[in-house]
Amino acid sequence: MSLPLAPGLAGTRILLGISAGIAAYKSAHLARLLKKTGAEVRVVMTEGAQAFITPLTLQALTGEPVRTSLLDPEAEAGMGHIELAKWSDIILIAPATADLMARLAHGHADDLLTTLCLATEAHCLMAPAMNQAMWRHPATLANADRLRELGWALLGPDAGDQACGDVGLGRMLEPETILTQLLAERERPRGESSEMMPVHQDLDGKRVVITAGPTREALDPVRYLSNHSSGKMGYALAAACAQRGASVSLVSGPVTLSTPPGVNRIDVTSASEMLAAVESQLPCDLFIGCAAVADYRAASVGEHKMKKTDDDAGLTLELVRNPDIVATVAARPDRPFTVGFAAETQDLETHAGSKLERKRLDLIVANDVSREGVGFGSDDNAVTLLWKQHDQTTRRELPVQAKATLAAVIVDHIVDRLP
Ligand code: C5P
Repeated sequence: MSLPLAPGLAGTRILLGISAGIAAYKSAHLARLLKKTGAEVRVVMTEGAQAFITPLTLQALTGEPVRTSLLDPEAEAGMGHIELAKWSDIILIAPATADLMARLAHGHADDLLTTLCLATEAHCLMAPAMNQAMWRHPATLANADRLRELGWALLGPDAGDQACGDVGLGRMLEPETILTQLLAERERPRGESSEMMPVHQDLDGKRVVITAGPTREALDPVRYLSNHSSGKMGYALAAACAQRGASVSLVSGPVTLSTPPGVNRIDVTSASEMLAAVESQLPCDLFIGCAAVADYRAASVGEHKMKKTDDDAGLTLELVRNPDIVATVAARPDRPFTVGFAAETQDLETHAGSKLERKRLDLIVANDVSREGVGFGSDDNAVTLLWKQHDQTTRRELPVQAKATLAAVIVDHIVDRLP
């Protein structure tokens, strides 16, 4: 079943399920965010959840009584559990513990929340939250796959520091991210898998370094040379690698994007700073040079703002070459699998093919930035992948699609070729 296409969630009936994880303290904030969208929110808590946060807190935030028990005659006399299951347009469980996932994957109905999930036709989503080892356990991953087959959308989990002191994949997504993903999920037919979900942790244990965005090369304290790169493609690749379990360092030029969950972002301005930041993150298993690095910088940077002269004579700037970051990485004895990008406005494949050889890359992603609606600044892109196979340059065209989906396809292609 697909959800109503109304903008926002005004009038949507959301049943927020809370199970027994420490992330339950964030569910109060999530309930508030959901209420602010104009949704009707009712909360069901498992018994264990109440050890982390009280029903009273959720009742105060939603203005509705919180249900905690299947066998509560008083509550059942009001809206019975089947009625509540039918009332819901969306069931969102956040946090969803490993145990709750296991029970739902096997069709249990041993408390109110699991019973509602069996009885409902609502769009069902969950934000798993658990220790990283519990998330990586084959039993949990199999349960996650089974839940997706049953039509559940899994939001996250996120990577990073955990309450128990571990670091890894298993954190609940931040409430704001859950809301964003919920809005995206609304339009997806139930049961169709989402690109936001980590299906395979096939980059688990791999270190990935990605450059993204433009560089700025100062001319004086107020002016610089730069380009139109938005950083969207590099950020989408960083998100895709992190979702697949990689430890990702994203070396970013100045952009207005937010950092993808679980990604270690290092902000830089110039090409020289970008190279230094990249080298500080090496060695790694995979390097993706997606940044639009300025090829030249000013031979000298004025200490003060340059003044125009009184005559009409033009101005000549003296520029010197910047280091080539991707070529520097590919030339190292401990070189990672190295991927470059080629943004071209003409003779796309010829230029990209020669960069593949000259920079000693394992793969180049060729991008015709003169085409309308794709490339710089846009949310969509269409690219051609070029790589060497038995000394022959081989190509694969990827049609126009959202940068997030394209990133997932490019990462699939890389994963198949990683040593
Ligand atoms: O600018 P060019 O077309 O040569 O860029 C191709 C690839 O080289 C891109 O992956 C870009 O990130 C990388 N590059 C770099 N350092 C430079 C110039 C380009 O890493 N100074």
